[in-house]
Amino acid sequence: MSALSNQAAYLFEKNATPLQVRSAPYTSPGPDEIVIRTHAVAVNPVDHIIQDSSLIYGHLKYPAILGFDVSGEVVDVGKNVTRFRQGDRVVGSAPATDEKINSPAYGGFQLYTVLLSHMASPLPDTLSYEEASVIPLGLDTAACGLFQKDQLALQYPSVPTAKSTGKTLLVWGGSTSVGCNAIQIAVAAGYEVITTCSPRNFDLVKSLGAVQAFDYNSSTVVSDIKNAFKGRTTAGAMSIGHGAAHKCLDILAACKGDKALTMVSYPMPESTPKHFVVLQTVFTYLTGMISLWIKAKRHGIRTGLINGYTLIHNEVGPMIYQDYLPKALAENKFVPAPKAEVVGHGLEHAQKAMEILREGVSAKKVVITL
Ligand SMILES: NC(=O)c1ccc[n+]([C@@H]2O[C@H](COP(=O)([O-])OP(=O)(O)OC[C@H]3O[C@@H](n4cnc5c(N)ncnc54)[C@H](OP(=O)(O)O)[C@@H]3O)[C@@H](O)[C@H]2O)c1
Repeated sequence: MSALSNQAAYLFEKNATPLQVRSAPYTSPGPDEIVIRTHAVAVNPVDHIIQDSSLIYGHLKYPAILGFDVSGEVVDVGKNVTRFRQGDRVVGSAPATDEKINSPAYGGFQLYTVLLSHMASPLPDTLSYEEASVIPLGLDTAACGLFQKDQLALQYPSVPTAKSTGKTLLVWGGSTSVGCNAIQIAVAAGYEVITTCSPRNFDLVKSLGAVQAFDYNSSTVVSDIKNAFKGRTTAGAMSIGHGAAHKCLDILAACKGDKALTMVSYPMPESTPKHFVVLQTVFTYLTGMISLWIKAKRHGIRTGLINGYTLIHNEVGPMIYQDYLPKALAENKFVPAPKAEVVGHGLEHAQKAMEILREGVSAKKVVITL
């Protein structure tokens, strides 16, 4: 295909604000890749965390292109790709900042994004690009935590829903983007889910399949959840949100069943100041990890930190994007959640979208259209 005229919102160097919209090279797909004309991009906390922090993503090459969650129309396919053809509508995970890929061609904040074909799913006509764009990183992270062998190693999801395992999973932070996905794929895998969120989001998490929801701000939340687990067998827990891991450990320690915790949020300061106070942050992280490790050891609980990218390079990525998601979307057995809120059209709105997310959201995903 002849080169198409591309544009991107670039992060030219660490801590550079705002992103700069410039012309960008068009990159043809490799043998197992596709290129999409990106139509919607959802923003994730990691977008502004990378922009703000000089401590993480040290491997990243600059200029970089952020944007992890994309949907759009296939314009070019690599020679080995049989699942997609030009004109297909897809949703996929944009892996530009993955350590092994580390290339701006794969970033979402551009008109033409290269995707790995095994990390993309066809979209049914019933879903708009905006609606679908909320899926990838939340789903990826949830799937890494629930299904990877080094995390909870749960049974895989299926359509129709797998036979009940008789076990119950705790998802702390069910109204987050990761949590909304975790609830749905855990239920599809045959697990019952108990979750936490603010009371305003109880109906949402129950509509996604959770059997009970608890207010994580309640002073009795840990004992309330321990009571809820009486007579149940746990499949482990996923902790999302500040302070969640310690509380999940306290609950797992009192439960019958699998003693395993997969941690989505790291013990870091709750907000990420523009110029990270390096020593303070390292200290917070190390002391947080050590105290978690001691508590986990004391109660015989296995713990793991998630990197939401690892499924790209193992069997979980294709299981989700090839085997599960296309069928689940087509049969309306999986809904994109939380809902998209479109905050602008055009790459120049990428920075604004990141600022809106940085201020905090409740059960919604900030999206731009392109
Ligand atoms: N390790 C990884 O690879 C990875 C990947 C993706 C995300 N993350 C991290 O996971 C976290 C969630 O990301 P996201 O994109 O899913 O977030 P998000 O959707 O932007 O999070 C917003 C939600 O957070 C909930 N929340 C706020 N404080 C909480 C707490 N203390 N406990 C539980 N829930 C809380 C709010 O719930 P209510 O409105 O109901 O109060 C709100 O709905 C972030 O810390 C993010 O950095 C890590």
